[in-house]
Amino acid sequence: MRHEIPREATRSDWDREYSRFRAIPSTVRHAPSRAFTLYSNLIDLKPGRVVLDLGCGNGRNAIFAAEHGCEVYAIDFSPIATSECEERARGAGVSERVHVYNQSFFDDLPMGESSCDLILDFYISCHFMSPATRERYVLMMTRQLKPTGKVVSALLSNEDEYYRQLPPLSDGKVVDPANYIAKKLFDEAEVPHAYEGLEVQHLEVIEFEDVVLGKHYQRSVFASIFANRS
Ligand SMILES: C[S@@+](CC[C@H](N)C(=O)[O-])C[C@H]1O[C@@H](n2cnc3c(N)ncnc32)[C@H](O)[C@@H]1O
Repeated sequence: MRHEIPREATRSDWDREYSRFRAIPSTVRHAPSRAFTLYSNLIDLKPGRVVLDLGCGNGRNAIFAAEHGCEVYAIDFSPIATSECEERARGAGVSERVHVYNQSFFDDLPMGESSCDLILDFYISCHFMSPATRERYVLMMTRQLKPTGKVVSALLSNEDEYYRQLPPLSDGKVVDPANYIAKKLFDEAEVPHAYEGLEVQHLEVIEFEDVVLGKHYQRSVFASIFANRS
């Protein structure tokens, strides 16, 4: 195991993933995240709910929420991702309810504080390389949530067959040679700690077969719901 901390993916790294490498299944997939459909009846997706999709990518989850009548704020710092999200929301006939912002979620957000019923956090925290960034991220989420608000999250597990085959760096980190993006793979016990300040309501591992770069792998993902503690 090498004891180095890889650098965190930048906006340009993500632009290259969307424009050139297209190595991550969620880059090209149009179906919503499995964690989202798994929990969709527990999180009360319905008209009027305010949903914040952090790192919305191509918009697959934002569109699913908007199709349930939710008012969605979709944020991503990759202009290629936000253009695709806008185009797909138009194609799905939900662009009136998908408000797309090309910016970092660490900059001032367009909706007021304590305004969100639900925050979507799909495959975001696994790209933070330091606990300090994760803390800042969770603090931002707690600021945006209503007191009754929830976060639905998907994180990569260290049992995931595609990422487990890569040379391990320290603390469950790997760098994908297909797009040079670094990931942190989680052990189940680490998940609640990564969301310190939020309360775990559900946590389960989802396992499924999926194709990555033309090959079949057994994927393993932690799907969670967190509630605001305040
Ligand atoms: C693995 S993709 C997940 C996309 C989407 N959540 C999904 O499940 O399809 C991670 C996304 O987070 C975005 N991202 C990473 N850091 C960000 C930041 N600081 N602000 C906004 N977007 C960010 C990337 O551009 C990328 O689109």
